[in-house]
Order: sequence, then structure tokens, then C-alpha cells
Amino acid sequence: MTDAAAGGRRLLIHDLEQLATPAGSGSPLRGRDLGAVDVVEGAYVLCRDGRIEAVGRMRDLVAPDGEVEELDGRGLCAIPGLVDCHTHACFAGDRVEEFALRAAGASYEELHAAGGGILSTVRATRGAGEDGIRRELRRHREWMLRAGTTTFEAKSGYGLDHQTELASLHAIRDEGGVPTFLGAHAVPPEFDSADSYLDWLVPEVLPDAAELAEAADVFVEQGAFDVDQARRYLSEARRRGLELRLHADQFTEAGGLQLGVQLRARSVDHLEATGEHGVRALGESDVCAVLLPASALFLDRPMPPARQLVDAGAVVALATDFNPGSAFCESLPVVASLACTQLHLSPAEALTAMTVNAAHVLARADRKGRLAPGYDGDVVLLDAPDWRHLAYHLAGDVVAAVVQGGKTAWRR
Ligand code: NIG
Ligand code: FE
Repeated sequence: MTDAAAGGRRLLIHDLEQLATPAGSGSPLRGRDLGAVDVVEGAYVLCRDGRIEAVGRMRDLVAPDGEVEELDGRGLCAIPGLVDCHTHACFAGDRVEEFALRAAGASYEELHAAGGGILSTVRATRGAGEDGIRRELRRHREWMLRAGTTTFEAKSGYGLDHQTELASLHAIRDEGGVPTFLGAHAVPPEFDSADSYLDWLVPEVLPDAAELAEAADVFVEQGAFDVDQARRYLSEARRRGLELRLHADQFTEAGGLQLGVQLRARSVDHLEATGEHGVRALGESDVCAVLLPASALFLDRPMPPARQLVDAGAVVALATDFNPGSAFCESLPVVASLACTQLHLSPAEALTAMTVNAAHVLARADRKGRLAPGYDGDVVLLDAPDWRHLAYHLAGDVVAAVVQGGKTAWRR
């Protein structure tokens, strides 16, 4: 037997400037706990067989015997692999034309109402076919990885027909993503109302989607789906074993937040329009508030009331919302910068919100989101002397390497 076989496959990241990881072992983290991050100066991380075996100070490192791959951490800081718990990464084409129109004054809702917006990406995604969808998703996944995302959720919702919705969910699973069924994203042109679309979607697509997806999501908004329609769709999704998520309060307070709380959904996402009542309701519930400041920035909207939510005791996570229309941004480090400059969160709160709490949204907090023994060997190495450069270096080239499952997945 070789040493490697006896000891398992090992990777030692040594001589790190710092290692930063959310403190404790519980999840989700809320209130004061959100900002509790343990920092170790002069640190190492040892992975074995895809998991973290040990972390600590270099001076306490007991040199592992046998064959060990080494990664030199000098000049670098380690944080947990980032978890992007809200993306629409499964799309074809782009919307750069609309981006230019919006720059000239058109609004997102006007473009949507005129048959552009989400529906223009639906046309492109349907047209790409199964292979095209896979190819595009793989490309987007690579972008996310380079930005430090080692775990990503992705939604369907650009098919809105049986074949393309299912192809999207298959592709997301095959690319290692966490699949969410967003059949209720928009009403496709074949249907003349949201009700008639749901009359078809719920019996014809949802049962098959439920075999592939982990959660169902719905866009609750004027011009998309109302509360009664969302309740009907989500109730059936739950009956089929899916977790529930909602796009809520993006443009108006259309009741999605209250419905999410009532149904004990896993999360309500966006919340740019959420007022005091909504903040209080989330403070008293276990439903996670997933905040997407890149989307608010991209559409020139008010930022969600992040500080109020954290101070009210709500469970807060951060994500990119990566999609071609409202947030063409795959970078969680950029989101961390926005969290600190626009949402008034601390770098520590931002880190926890895109690691432990994002993993909680995806029901993976027992093995994702921390640098601690037993967790998956997912590590981001930052090219910085202090881990807070994650947020400080606005749109900087801050990610030096990404380790996923104990292997180097990307290195610049
Ligand atoms: O989360 N608001 C609904 N869905 C997406 C945007 C999708 C798109 O514009 O293509 C969002 O912002
Ligand atoms: Fe979204």
C-alpha cells in the first residue's frame, strides 16, 4: 500500500497570512452572531479526501507524514468557499441591447411589459437546445468559480415549457449546482393569463420538475404572479417535497414576504421594497432574507433594508442574483463590497451571509460555509494580507486560487 493510499489524498495549504471563518458551529447565524468571525494569523488548512481534516496555527501544525500535495499560502488569506444561494445562471444569450436602452432611460418594467426582459431570455434559452443550455451554464459556472463560488444554486425559469424547464434542471444538476424550479417566473407568450399558465404548469411540469429540483421559487410581483397564484403553486410544490422560495418585494410590496412567512418558506429574496412591517415579520421568523444588492445597483433601485433586518434578528444571506437582465454579475466578492458600502454590513457579517447562512438556505450548512474539521474542503485563497480585502478591494482581482473538495479547482 502506498502512503497516499494509507493516508488518503491530502492537500496542505500552509503559511497563510490569515484564515477567517464564521465562529461557532451552529446555523443559521443571526443578530450579533452574524458578525462573529474567527481569524487565525499564520495559519494552515489540511484537507483529506475532499474534507477539511484540520485547521490552525502554523506553529501547532503536526507535519502529516506520507504524500501530501502542498499549496504555498504566503501572501494569501483563506476563507470558506463562497456559496451563491440565488442565481439564474442557466440562460442563453444576453440582454446588452436592453442594458443600453436602460442606460438611456427605459425602465426594467417597461421592457418586461413590451415582451422583452425575461421573455427575451426565454426565447434565447428555448432556441439554444439542450446542448446549448449545458454549454452556456458551464461557461457561467466557470465565471462563478473564478470569483470564489464553490457552491451555487441555479434556477430554471427561462424555459417556461416542459422540455426547456426540465433540460435546465438536468443541466444544473449535472454541473454540480443546486437546482431550483422557477416555473412561475413569467407568463410565456402561449398563455393569455397567469392563471391559465398555472392551470397547465402545476399538473404538467411541476411533478417532473419536483423529481429534479430541491426547491420551487415564484416571482411575486405586479405583472408576474399574485399571492393567490403563488400560494397555489407553492402548496403543490411543498406537497411534492420541495423547499419553498419567493422573489418578494423586488419592486413593490406585493404580499410575497407575508406569504413566505405564512408558509414557512426557506427564503424570501430581494426585499428592495420591504418596509418596517416586513422587517419585523422576518425578525420574528426563521424564513431567511436573501439580499441581492448587485441587482438593486444594476437596476438603480433602493437597496434592501439590510441593517434593519440584521438588527431585528432576521436570518440574512447575500447572493448575486446572477442573470442577464437585472444582475449581470457573477461575483460574490463584488456583492461583499456592496454589502459593506451600501447595506451597512461589516465585512464579517457579509462573509457569514455568503457562507454559513447561504449554505443554510441550500440546506447544506452541516458541510459548507466554514473552515473547520469535517466540512467540505472548499477554500478560497485571497491575494491579500488581510481577509477583509474580500470586500475592500472593489471589483478587484482578489481571488488567487479556489480549492473545491480538497483539490485545486482554479488558480490564476
Ligand atoms: O431576480 N425578478 C425576477 N427575476 C430575476 C430577473 C430575471 C431577468 O431579468 O432575466 C431577478 O431579478
Ligand atoms: Fe432572482
